[in-house]
Amino acid sequence: MTIRAKIVGTGSCVPEKVLTNKDLEQMIDTSDEWITTRTGIKERHIAQEGENNSDLAVGAARRALEMAGIAPADLDLIIVGTLTPDMPMPSVACLVQKELGAKRAGAMDISATCSGFLYSLSVADKFVRCSPDSKVLVIGSEVLSRRTNWQDRTTCVLFADGAGAAVVTGARGENGIVSTHLHADGSVWELLTIKGLGTAHPVDESILEKGWQYIEMQGRDVFKHAVKALESVAFEALDASGWTLEDIDLLIAHQANIRILEHLRERLSLPKDKVFINIHKYGNTSAASIPIALDEANRKGRLKAGDKVLMISFGGGFTWAGVTMKW
Ligand code: ACO
Repeated sequence: MTIRAKIVGTGSCVPEKVLTNKDLEQMIDTSDEWITTRTGIKERHIAQEGENNSDLAVGAARRALEMAGIAPADLDLIIVGTLTPDMPMPSVACLVQKELGAKRAGAMDISATCSGFLYSLSVADKFVRCSPDSKVLVIGSEVLSRRTNWQDRTTCVLFADGAGAAVVTGARGENGIVSTHLHADGSVWELLTIKGLGTAHPVDESILEKGWQYIEMQGRDVFKHAVKALESVAFEALDASGWTLEDIDLLIAHQANIRILEHLRERLSLPKDKVFINIHKYGNTSAASIPIALDEANRKGRLKAGDKVLMISFGGGFTWAGVTMKW
């Protein structure tokens, strides 16, 4: 009998503080109308001083473990997809491991920007299929607000904070992850960057003056690459799974821009109720966006046993990914 890696619990956690488009109107030269029509975002959650990536990751993890009915001590591996770790060392995953008391678990971060959760889920899929009794905690978690230039209206209206988590273990039968697809193209890395505060451009007055500690994005170019890559990986994942467009029960795509989601919906000929959208409430939370959406869909009863779910992501690097699963 087939053994698949199956998600048995989901959770999410976002900071309490909500920043609305109206709030942003008081901070920079923008309008609720511009942000809503260009991006679909109405509000987002922003971490407060002292609230860190690992705190959100732990919050999401606890909820996912509770739903799964699995104790932290039984975890074998913790993987966190993130581009905004608390610090370069240790990893967010190690801080989560400590906080949960997951004594037996290995822990690592994966840096794949907005594809961080699907990259991590893909690693968990391979791990669990090699060792079906193992239990893997997969998290996508970000505090992008601390890498956002709040004077740059072209980016600060987009990015936000939050975390989502999934517990994965082996299950006999057809339900679980069916196929995973990872891609990258580093040749165009300069279109979406945080150039500073790594080892190439360490802390230095000139780096801070240039604003290289912040996210910089060539929005229009990124948009064009994103729609092409997302569409292509969607068809690749469907082909590999032997599914047709009609088979899809729910599409969960990275929540970067409502216009990208609408474009995908049209290209994939999907009705509105088959495309999960929550960007209006959370903004772009990078690696956290898909697991937050997955958790919301799950808790709202949008996922029924056997449903065919397609998840796709695109982000800086560039990286893009697709995962199909039978719920
Ligand atoms: N409020 C008001 N006006 C604004 C704002 C704002 N917040 N931001 C930009 N503008 C202005 C610009 O200055 C420009 O004015 P001009 O015509 O006078 O020069 C005008 O609006 C149009 O600007 P564009 O940047 O061309 O706007 P566009 O329609 O391309 O929308 C956006 C920008 C929303 C960023 C879009 O390009 C986009 O979503 N890109 C893709 C982002 C994405 O998918 N990222 C995925 C990965 S994210 C990650 O990896 C972390």
